[in-house]
Amino acid sequence: MVEGELRGVIALDGPSGTGKSTVARRLATILGAGYLDTGAMFRTVTLAVLRAGVDPTDEDAVARVAEGVDLRISTDPVHQEVLLGDENVGAEIRGPAVTLAVSAVSAVPRVRELLKQHQWRLIDEVSSSCGGIVVEGRDIGTAIAPDAALKVFLTASSDARAARRTRQDAAEGRVSTLDATKQDVERRDKLDSGRVASPLQPADDAVWLDTTHLDVAGVLDQILAIVDERDLRGVAAGPGRW
Ligand code: DC
Repeated sequence: MVEGELRGVIALDGPSGTGKSTVARRLATILGAGYLDTGAMFRTVTLAVLRAGVDPTDEDAVARVAEGVDLRISTDPVHQEVLLGDENVGAEIRGPAVTLAVSAVSAVPRVRELLKQHQWRLIDEVSSSCGGIVVEGRDIGTAIAPDAALKVFLTASSDARAARRTRQDAAEGRVSTLDATKQDVERRDKLDSGRVASPLQPADDAVWLDTTHLDVAGVLDQILAIVDERDLRGVAAGPGRW
């Protein structure tokens, strides 16, 4: 391992529009670490459910689809690729149909269990090859990597989050309005926080960071300061799974 690179797991959780993905990818790049976008995994299973013509609220049918899904995701922060079978679905999983259905699919316990096993395998692989990984999602600090070296919980006002999501949609060629996006952000927050299986919630030992008035560089500065405070570059992992 190269001195200065991350060792261990950084768990980055929080609702949509807090800047999580951008921050996680840049952080992983700066720290020479892997990167795992667990939201993309739930989105890909959701796409498979929709393509199978299955009702996303039918738990048994959703679980059956999830069991047969051939999902591959890269852990390179610079070159992100998500495959369903041999098809690159990176753009389609961000579209409105998947966004509308993903909270229902991700509330199904069997889906969460299957993806948890997959996420553990990927984290193990990256940890043994490059040492460190930044994992983003909703339950990373609580359920997937409870022994993570650093857990960060990002928050922001729903207005700020809707504005960011609308800008991101426009940049990626999707049509959306601020009002509709704000409603969607609040709808998903409610569903993701209210579900029984691994709800969106901060770990007790997570560092909270409100990004409402911070840009990406500001968020990165704060997280990197904690990484250095905790001496997480080029050091051995602490006790626990990773
Ligand atoms: O991060 P995202 O917006 O792409 O995530 C899409 C959905 O996936 C989100 O509404 C909730 C779900 N999700 C989850 O339940 N657990 C995770 N670890 C990541 C995402």
